[in-house]
Amino acid sequence: MDGPSGTGKSSVSRKLATRLNASYLDTGAMYRVATLQVLRAGVDLDDAEAIAAAVADLPLTIGTDPSGEVVLLNGEDVSSEIRGGDVTKAVSAVSAVGPVREQLVALQRELAASAERIVVEGRDIGTVVLTNADAKIYLTASAEARAQRRNEQNIAEGRGDDYEAVLADVERRDNLDSTRKVSPLRPAEDSVTVDTSELGIDQVIDRLYEIVFEQA
Ligand code: C5P
Repeated sequence: MDGPSGTGKSSVSRKLATRLNASYLDTGAMYRVATLQVLRAGVDLDDAEAIAAAVADLPLTIGTDPSGEVVLLNGEDVSSEIRGGDVTKAVSAVSAVGPVREQLVALQRELAASAERIVVEGRDIGTVVLTNADAKIYLTASAEARAQRRNEQNIAEGRGDDYEAVLADVERRDNLDSTRKVSPLRPAEDSVTVDTSELGIDQVIDRLYEIVFEQA
């Protein structure tokens, strides 16, 4: 499952995994942990080599249970910290660094291979990480609909209410993620695109469930 931020991809992927009795892997969380490591190391975000060095042998552990995600960095639970503003601002820069992606993609493939059935969500899953996936979905929605959802999520989680700033961040990250040289965000040729702008979560899940069985 690929697509830009704010399409409801995470909630949808988790619910779909539960319905399919599958495991679930949030690859965005992995790039966020790498970013936290880089920020803690105090590395300059323009220095790709230093970023790669700070992330080499990243001591990352990530759970694959769709009912609750636990992400550890060096044994410390960072599940909440990786959702904060500092990490969100820096993550596109860190995820554009080739060696960071190589390391995380290898781990993603290992985790996927060890699961009997798994829903994996990210930006390059259908195009790079798991090109032989049984079913590929590209989830999309208008930038406004996505910003609206992310802002509501922020309010619910006590991170403030600033729609304009969220919209600007959504557009900035879309632009960085889709124009980067390594693994830019784009739909896989053999994926099915679902636009969630006008759909409720249950409608999206029903549609995806159908697609999985049509494709697989
Ligand atoms: O999905 P989420 O918003 O948590 O992802 C955070 C960031 O991680 C994205 O904006 C993108 O830069 C990066 N990412 C990526 N490849 C993936 C998943 C996420 O580059 N497979």
